[in-house]
Amino acid sequence: MSEVKEQGVIAGAENDSENLLVVRNLKKYFPIKSSFFKMTVGNVKAVDGVSFSIKRGTTMGLVGESGCGKSTTGRTILRLQEKTEGEVIFDGQDIFKLSKEELRKLRPRIQIIFQDPYSSLSPRLPIGEIIGEAVREHNIVPKEEIDDYITRVMEACGLQEWHKNRYPHEFSGGQRQRICIARALALNPEFILCDEPVSALDVSIQAQIINLLRDLQKQFGLTYLFISHDLSVVEHISDTVGVMYLGNMVEYSETEKIYSKPLHPYTMALFSAIPVPDPDYKMNRIVLQGSIPSPANPPSGCKFHTRCEKCMEICKTVSPEMREVEPGHFCACHLYDPDLDKTATSADTAKTEEKPADKTPDKEIAIEKETAGKESAKEKPADDPSKKDNGKPKGKKK
Ligand SMILES: Nc1ncnc2c1ncn2[C@@H]1O[C@H](COP(=O)(O)OP(=O)(O)OP(=O)(O)O)[C@@H](O)[C@H]1O
Ligand code: SF4
Ligand SMILES: [Mg+2]
Repeated sequence: MSEVKEQGVIAGAENDSENLLVVRNLKKYFPIKSSFFKMTVGNVKAVDGVSFSIKRGTTMGLVGESGCGKSTTGRTILRLQEKTEGEVIFDGQDIFKLSKEELRKLRPRIQIIFQDPYSSLSPRLPIGEIIGEAVREHNIVPKEEIDDYITRVMEACGLQEWHKNRYPHEFSGGQRQRICIARALALNPEFILCDEPVSALDVSIQAQIINLLRDLQKQFGLTYLFISHDLSVVEHISDTVGVMYLGNMVEYSETEKIYSKPLHPYTMALFSAIPVPDPDYKMNRIVLQGSIPSPANPPSGCKFHTRCEKCMEICKTVSPEMREVEPGHFCACHLYDPDLDKTATSADTAKTEEKPADKTPDKEIAIEKETAGKESAKEKPADDPSKKDNGKPKGKKK
């Protein structure tokens, strides 16, 4: 029996001392201004009530289509922009309640690595200066030790001491990302937001950077929020994964659970596109209809209902609550609502008679399927949506 959790609270968030970061019901709306009188005529609901927690020394992956609010979530958590609503608790303190001075002191502890390493490095400063600038500003080490300290940090990131006097344009893309990581690491952070840190790099360089991030995590006990489009990379690096759709978290779990048995129809579709390195494996790809709706005018009820082939009448009007479907595995979908039978039967009788398959939780949402694999969803029992898998081999592939 699934358990309904209070909206805005999610797995692990109860024990704050274990969690370095707890995000509760975070909202970030961008006002839409009219051309006359600059009146607010609406809002882009970029982040619309997101909750999660990250344990110390672990990595949470954040995935979802372009424009679903991943970067806005990250930037709001770091207070690079003000929130609309919600709480962000970093190491026991709400970062939105900190004064300017308190926030300045906290800054070195929370760092960010961006997608494009080149544009985030000043072209006019040599690397030693780029890495050392904030070290000096925040008095991370005594003045006389700064030079040695920068060398040690650079070496930890796979850079050489003689790189200090060279400029960003003299480095390759992978090296530049190492410089960005070194700059973040030099401030002795506890938390690093990695926003698409390897998307702009070649595949072989991506692996080097991911391995570097993992090594540094082990060495320094770092905690990461890792935003990426690349689901294979996220699977490789993350301990937990959150899936966002149109400003909301729709599924959250440990990586192995969510990759071996995604529950939300959106997650199933997203994960069905991950290539499997097995020539005998037949892909059963789920292709979603249409594009992501506008966050300025999101659909009513479940925001995914306009693209979900499992959509029921209730989905069009009632927003599904995040519930713990199995221990540690959270999903916001009416298919896992224990009251679904009563509600859906009364609200959706006509549709059931017309298209009985629409009510079957394990019906694929595919509109285009590549050849069905041996573990075709149609062969799965139809009565328990939580028994559904995405047709992929179970277990974490590493
Ligand atoms: N400063 C801003 N002003 C107005 N709208 C914004 C602003 N920043 C982001 N948005 C909007 O908020 C939504 C979420 O944007 P965000 O950059 O967080 O998406 P994302 O998931 O990171 O996408 P991508 O994967 O393409 O990086 C988008 O619709 C975007 O247009
Ligand atoms: S079944 Fe309903 S609640 Fe679940 S994802 Fe589809 S539209 Fe949303
Ligand atoms: Mg982004």
